[in-house]
Amino acid sequence: MLLIRNIALLQTPVGSTSQRGAAQGKNRRYHNASVLVDGGIIRAVGEDGAVPACPSGTEEFDAGGAFATPGWVDAHTHLVFGGWRQHEIPLKLKGAGYLEILQSGGGILDTVRRTRALSEDELFSRASAFLNEQLYLGVTTAEIKSGYGLDLENELKQLRVIRRLNREHAMDVVPTCMAAHAVPPEFAGRADDYVDCVCNEILPRVAEERLAQFCDVFCETGVFSVAQSRRILETARSLGLGRKIHADEIDSLGGAQLAGEVCAVSAEHLIATSDAGICALANGGVTACLLPQTSLYLNKPYARAREMIAAQVPVAIASDFNPGSSPSLNLQFSATLAYLRYRMTPEEILTAVTLNAACAIGLGERIGSVEAGKQADLTLWNADGMELLCYRMGSNLVKAVVKRGTVVVS
Ligand code: NIG
Ligand code: FE
Repeated sequence: MLLIRNIALLQTPVGSTSQRGAAQGKNRRYHNASVLVDGGIIRAVGEDGAVPACPSGTEEFDAGGAFATPGWVDAHTHLVFGGWRQHEIPLKLKGAGYLEILQSGGGILDTVRRTRALSEDELFSRASAFLNEQLYLGVTTAEIKSGYGLDLENELKQLRVIRRLNREHAMDVVPTCMAAHAVPPEFAGRADDYVDCVCNEILPRVAEERLAQFCDVFCETGVFSVAQSRRILETARSLGLGRKIHADEIDSLGGAQLAGEVCAVSAEHLIATSDAGICALANGGVTACLLPQTSLYLNKPYARAREMIAAQVPVAIASDFNPGSSPSLNLQFSATLAYLRYRMTPEEILTAVTLNAACAIGLGERIGSVEAGKQADLTLWNADGMELLCYRMGSNLVKAVVKRGTVVVS
């Protein structure tokens, strides 16, 4: 048992389902709070100085008057990869576009070459260091996509690394197969043949070995069309995998509408989504997983978060950590961008990085809020509330992190 006491303010969304519309901006606040944890699960929350009854000898952790929230959830990362892509910046500064670099064999395909060249152990140690960094930044759960293998052997390699991270690292990790991240060089000019390979070979094997919970597709001009993405996501559905889609990141192709059609749990990016796309997300109950660091890094517009919230679309915010469009895994920085650029309120942002993010990766019942019965994942902050946290751009305000009832950062 662990008693976390002396929390000046504990702020959390409430429930196990994604919060939309006005509900996204509603957080529960406990003043002068304490949290009792048993077996890694929250047993009780005390407020106004009242401490939950606990047996004598219960271990105590003094939060020192900190502000506390649920542990943050990064619902979208591409965290297992080889190399970096800093050499792309001069190209970008000379005017080369993201898709142009990809079309010329660089971009994602450059990272594919570097990822294929690394062993499972090498990828594991790199990714493990990234997860350490995330934990220190207050994130306690992350989704990780494959998609830098792009053939059976290398996709399985990446997914096995993700499985091992989940087993060996303190963080919880949710695996997504994104074999449809780009058309690999072996299939250049034959995208449909690669889609066959993904549907007939890679996804069935991934499902059989239970290596992924979700399937994601990069639905974009010159990558996978709406028709190809539909085929892949329908195959995923038939194999029992959840669906996600990188939609309207650069061009508005109709990926948001496809997300509604295939009952995707989330649609990602949504920078160029049309009104009809927003409507489809709302009708389909799809969570919009918005990635503001990517807009900044690719010098693109920001997704229309306010319109999405007004249309009753639940909004989550994630880092999109990857070497090409978001080389930072600082979700606190994403929160600042969401505040300034999406014009979301600090309360809406907290919901977006905790409960709605948890729901976007199928974990709303287990994590995403501080409530009796949920897993004891909490982040304590050197701040007096979300407003300060969203304002202190680029700083790490983490004071301590509790994961499954154990203090892992302090
Ligand atoms: O979400 N757009 C596709 N995937 C990533 C970028 C991956 C990369 O450039 O390596 C994204 O932006
Ligand atoms: Fe992404």
